[in-house]
Amino acid sequence: MPLIALSNVTKAYPPRSKGAPPTVAVDDVSLEIEEGDVHAIIGYSGAGKSTLVRLINALERPTGGRVTVAGRDLVGLDERALRQVRRGIGMIFQQFNLFESKTVWGNVEFPLKVAGIPRAEHQKRISDLLHFVGLVDQAHAYVDQLSGGQKQRVGIARALATSPQILLADEATSALDPETTRDVLGLLRRVNTEFGVTVVVITHEMDVVRSIANRVSVMEGGRIVEQGEVFDVFSAPRTEAARRFVAGVVPTVPDADTLATLRSRHPGRIVSFSFADGGTDQSAIFLELNRRGVGFELIHGGIEDIRGRTFGTITLALTGDDASIDEALDRLTAVATIVKAA
Ligand SMILES: Nc1ncnc2c1ncn2[C@@H]1O[C@H](COP(=O)(O)OP(=O)(O)O)[C@@H](O)[C@H]1O
Ligand SMILES: [Mg+2]
Repeated sequence: MPLIALSNVTKAYPPRSKGAPPTVAVDDVSLEIEEGDVHAIIGYSGAGKSTLVRLINALERPTGGRVTVAGRDLVGLDERALRQVRRGIGMIFQQFNLFESKTVWGNVEFPLKVAGIPRAEHQKRISDLLHFVGLVDQAHAYVDQLSGGQKQRVGIARALATSPQILLADEATSALDPETTRDVLGLLRRVNTEFGVTVVVITHEMDVVRSIANRVSVMEGGRIVEQGEVFDVFSAPRTEAARRFVAGVVPTVPDADTLATLRSRHPGRIVSFSFADGGTDQSAIFLELNRRGVGFELIHGGIEDIRGRTFGTITLALTGDDASIDEALDRLTAVATIVKAA
């Protein structure tokens, strides 16, 4: 049984003005997140991502469909039971949402107080958490004195205080610089691997998906338009939306503009080779071309590692006689998918 399951979930907000149509923020979404997953939900602003996470932690009620967390159908639960479910779900935010006027310690202690955890247990719990996020020395600093990265570490410690089974991260690194982003993502990965916490990462950045998630859902206009293993979506996106996200971070076949630039710089025939799953046998390509006396120059693309599996697309400018090039390309369909530039 999946840890989180949404089936045909819709959330429509009432119209903002009389006579206007309601805003359908989440539109007939079905989604299953398995225990132990790091599941990324990617989409542009307004796609419905934040609404989706608020449905998972029951801060919003769906207008249609069903949300199940750890086997409990949220729709039928009263406020008391929902509070209990929420205690099993930690959350971190883009703007951190910390008490700026409290100390680091005070922020992490807050959820322990709310949950009624005996005071005697606070000390050890908080110091363990501050150790984990690397903020022991800042325990008594006020939050408004911390850097963004440190604030998000406090956010993570606070979110983990009540030992949740699930951590929801809504654009948790969007306000951070690249280096700090890497640190925070590394910490989230450890939350997953060391504590076994299932992590749902909301983002508009494909780099975040690549570095941390094993599964990804692509959202657009309130719908999930594509879903799968990160490697599969990166290496073979099926929808335009997924292709647009992937294009920014992995080597792809050059688009029309890039191709025009490449053409102006390189003589010869421009051909892209996309390697099949697992196979990145460049040498087979270079040997075959060489054997037939075809000249080549690598002009675009590369090889990428996604979660320990490699794939890539390389674009070559080929020079030589047409017949030799055609014969070589014929042979090479066995090792790569070939796209001949129009
Ligand atoms: N409380 C709300 N009331 C009315 N409309 C909302 C509310 N929250 C979000 N929306 C609308 O729902 C859509 C999805 O928003 P959101 O879930 O915040 O998307 P994302 O997080 O992907 O940017 C947007 O059109 C947004 O304006
Ligand atoms: Mg959002």
